[in-house]
Amino acid sequence: MTVCEYQPGLEGIPAARSKISYVDGQKGILEYQGIPIEQLAAQSNFLETAYLLIWGELPSKAALEDFEQDVRDHRRIKYRIRDMMKCFPESGHPMDALQACAAALGLFYSRRTLDDPDYVWEAVVRILAKIPTMVAAFELMRNGNDPVTPREDLDYASNFLYMLTEREPDPFAAQVFDVCLTLHAEHTINASTFSAMVTASTLTDPYAVVASAVGTLAGPLHGGANEEVISMLDEIGSVENVRPFVEQAIANKQRIMGFGHRVYKVKDPRATILQQLAEQLFEKGGSDPYYEIAVELEKVVEEKLGHKGIYANVDFYSGLVYRYLGIPRDLFTPIFTMARVAGWLAHWKEQLSVNRIFRPTQEYVGVHNVPYVPIEKRS
Ligand code: CMC
Repeated sequence: MTVCEYQPGLEGIPAARSKISYVDGQKGILEYQGIPIEQLAAQSNFLETAYLLIWGELPSKAALEDFEQDVRDHRRIKYRIRDMMKCFPESGHPMDALQACAAALGLFYSRRTLDDPDYVWEAVVRILAKIPTMVAAFELMRNGNDPVTPREDLDYASNFLYMLTEREPDPFAAQVFDVCLTLHAEHTINASTFSAMVTASTLTDPYAVVASAVGTLAGPLHGGANEEVISMLDEIGSVENVRPFVEQAIANKQRIMGFGHRVYKVKDPRATILQQLAEQLFEKGGSDPYYEIAVELEKVVEEKLGHKGIYANVDFYSGLVYRYLGIPRDLFTPIFTMARVAGWLAHWKEQLSVNRIFRPTQEYVGVHNVPYVPIEKRS
């Protein structure tokens, strides 16, 4: 057995052998099951991509139709889950609500027959189908409204936007949203996926796997960054303020949200696609002043931090797209979850096929043989 030296953040340490996705951070390449992300974004859709990731191959027409139909059939959530959500504080973050709801699914579908392909199929379908419904339901309920019943005649993206706004979305907006989901569906072993794999390795149920990953994705250094990008653009306020903002952030050693990546040392290919989508949206629906600030910010960050390999990541333009679609800011990460759950489930399945429980080691740097001091003798 090779013993590795301790690496903070496990940087560069392989924790799995995986066929699901591939990233070349120097060349800016991302592939799902070997297919370049640009091709999937242009030609596939989110549910087909989820199938590809989870079952390892593109589905036949019939297999895709079955999968899509099953997902449509499972979109509704139990009234008890809705009742549970009614007790959540409106001020709570939707990611916390989602984590609780994902875990609660395990109460209803708790059978743990992980070696039964029907159980695995049903779990995948239920999770993909119900997460969007839970995200939309919490949004409506925290605003004092009843949740909207999902519509079976609408595709995945359109149904979500419908449940959120109670209006049938513009088809182009729904298409853009669907591409966003495809782009966020998987990204090798990032923090939340690793968290899902560690939980999966204990052979717990897939709802617990997803709930643990949701908690991990919620942090501002991971999925929470796109929300913070918009807050940062608010703070910058104008194109003229961009340069002083960046200079001050660098002087104060502050992170500029939406930039930098552990793996990509060039512009994230997903950011390139998202930027194109954003431009198409603005061309059709009218310009967005935030976009001009964002473009200037990217230029200045590249100029000042490009030498360190810090470029725009996926979160930089996704927030702009969601904001333009009228999605509340604190739903950006739940939407990331709706997409990334496909990758988590793919890794869950892959982990089960080669499972060994994760149990890394540590370097102990504490002291030894310390005598216990009774409380009355402590200073
Ligand atoms: N702004 C300014 N400086 C940065 C940034 C940034 N966004 N990111 C990294 N750096 C600097 C950092 O200060 C350090 O400089 P030095 O070596 O002089 O001390 C150097 O780059 C390396 O930073 P690191 O923290 O060792 O890099 P990491 O690989 O551990 O962190 C990261 C990766 C994504 C956490 C980090 O780049 C970051 O905090 N970015 C901002 C948050 C963000 O946009 N997150 C979304 C990530 S992509 C989607 C996802 O994974 O969810």
